[in-house]
Amino acid sequence: MLKTHACGDLRSEHIGQEVTLAGWVHRRRDHGGLIFIDLRDSRGLAQVVFDPEDAPDAHAAARNVRGEYVLSVTGEVVARRGSTENPNMPTGEIEVRAASVEVLNAARTPPFAINEETEVEELLRLRYRYLDLRRERMQRNMRIRHRTVAYIRRFLHERDFIEIETPILTNSTPEGARDYLVPSRIQHGSFYALPQSPQQYKQLLMVAGFERYFQIARCFRDEDLRADRQPDFTQLDLEMSFATEEDILALFEELFTGLVREVRPDAKLVTPFPRMTYAESMRRFGTDKPDLRFGMELCDVSDLVASSEFGVFSNAVKSGGVVEGICVPGGAEMSRKQVDSLTAFVQGYGAKGLVSIALLGEGAVDTLTIEDVKSPVAKYLSEALVRGVAEKMEAKRGDLLLFVAGEGGKPKLDAGSAQRVKPALDGLRREVASRLELADPNTLHYVFITEFPLVEWSDEENRWDALHHLFVAPFDEDLPLFETDPAAIRSRAYDAVCNGQELGSGSVRIHQREMQERVLRLLGISDEDAQARFGHMLEAFEFGAPPHAGFAPGIDRIVAQLAGEEDIREVIAFPKTKSGADPMTGAPSPVTDEQLEVLGIRVVEEREEP
Ligand code: AMO
Ligand code: AMP
Repeated sequence: MLKTHACGDLRSEHIGQEVTLAGWVHRRRDHGGLIFIDLRDSRGLAQVVFDPEDAPDAHAAARNVRGEYVLSVTGEVVARRGSTENPNMPTGEIEVRAASVEVLNAARTPPFAINEETEVEELLRLRYRYLDLRRERMQRNMRIRHRTVAYIRRFLHERDFIEIETPILTNSTPEGARDYLVPSRIQHGSFYALPQSPQQYKQLLMVAGFERYFQIARCFRDEDLRADRQPDFTQLDLEMSFATEEDILALFEELFTGLVREVRPDAKLVTPFPRMTYAESMRRFGTDKPDLRFGMELCDVSDLVASSEFGVFSNAVKSGGVVEGICVPGGAEMSRKQVDSLTAFVQGYGAKGLVSIALLGEGAVDTLTIEDVKSPVAKYLSEALVRGVAEKMEAKRGDLLLFVAGEGGKPKLDAGSAQRVKPALDGLRREVASRLELADPNTLHYVFITEFPLVEWSDEENRWDALHHLFVAPFDEDLPLFETDPAAIRSRAYDAVCNGQELGSGSVRIHQREMQERVLRLLGISDEDAQARFGHMLEAFEFGAPPHAGFAPGIDRIVAQLAGEEDIREVIAFPKTKSGADPMTGAPSPVTDEQLEVLGIRVVEEREEP
């Protein structure tokens, strides 16, 4: 090694030793006489002093170095003199008095400061990602990622899971996103698909008798990118034979708990993790990804307002719709302007409006009079109605009640108002929590959502669509609903959610051919089509496939939460921009005509970059 010690590891126990350090010039201060250089390596910083009296050559050399130069420095570790000690630096008790220095490489002035956490434009960060990664935040995040994956591997290894790799060049998988395709050179016109997940392979590994499989798996999905989505991302993919829902959930509760304690011991973790059915989650939070760090649960007041004089409410209920609301604690203080902006906010979700009722005055809510109510529609409200809804919503004076009314929709295929009211109130609940800072950023509140619907109606395709994917097992007791009411069939799927974000999904799988065919038929997939696309799965189920279940949480999302980052790109070494490009390598890029020729491909139209 070109060094005897790491910069960040030096402590007072090294005082008196001669060491050789190697690293980058983090900061350089020229005090006329003495020159100080903070030398940085992957373990941290050490202060090096160049004294013209001690070592004139080294001092002269140090005059010419600049930020990010790569140096090797040899010298003695000495105690810093009293007042110059730096308690904010792990190596703050010592410094190295340079005897000699060698410049291992010079550096151009970087396009942004490496030694400060300044805001840098994303495109520039990604163009010079290797410099961005040198910065403290990214060094920390990549280490959190490493410790997360290392913990997961150790945890699963100790529980007899084995890691098996599955192909990257494979066939289309029905995860629901668009596939990335790779043309075959041998068979022109045929394509591999990059896996959206190793779903089929992991089930086949259960048929193969491995019983406990996992993989840190790369997955590829061509979909619209957001803060929590990348075109290539990583899952902890896991499958287990002879397991039920509870076995998987218990395993992951233990895994997540241990992981948080190891990687984020300072975070508040709510244990045991609650389990909540999809139906309950939709009723109480209007979403299948509830943020449980704060209250403001949705409350259905339809029955209380059905005969109200206020037409917006009563007409909604009469047409088969609903009126639901949330109670904002202490929200009565919000200004007219603030409430108006919330109205505009829910309109963004397709709600027609927002009714606000502020509860003023003193005393219990059953003493409320209409004078205590501040509302743009106060003149339509009766004392009894306000008391009724306030009690049902467990409101206090000083709170603000916010309601959205939705008209009824077509029965059955369109849940109608619930589909418009719930998302609006879910959005509103999160927006209010964010404005009032009700969610503790240091808490990780996991919850497992269970019993999802098996299918949902797709207007676009005019058929039933799998809510998760088509290998999810339905509940036995719901089988009669296949013929009568598919929307009501519950599946044995479950999600892990934390702080309002979906971290992973899984399910008990179908392991029998007849059941798989029945589901494929429900999804409108013809027998021939099923045979062509999933014949290998159907066939495998005929050779003694064991009952099995699995799960796949997204590593990027888990790590982002552990690192306290909003965007998963902050925990991915080389991510893509929102338009799927890599500004550093230039991917995606055109290829030569010769390359296309061999693949039998002709580009018909060149599209501009979005
Ligand atoms: P699903 O499609 O729900 O399930 O994906 C599971 C988890 O993968 C992560 N994820 C993503 N992360 C970053 N960028 C993306 N584009 C992206 N897409 C998904 C999420 C998500 O919760 N095979 C099934 C799992 C199973 O049934 O075992 C599957 O892939 O964290
Ligand atoms: P309008 O009858 O449209 O003048 O609306 C009267 C009040 O009711 C306004 O404060 C609207 O914001 C509100 N409002 C209208 N439609 C709805 C709805 N579907 N849900 C909640 N509030 C509504």
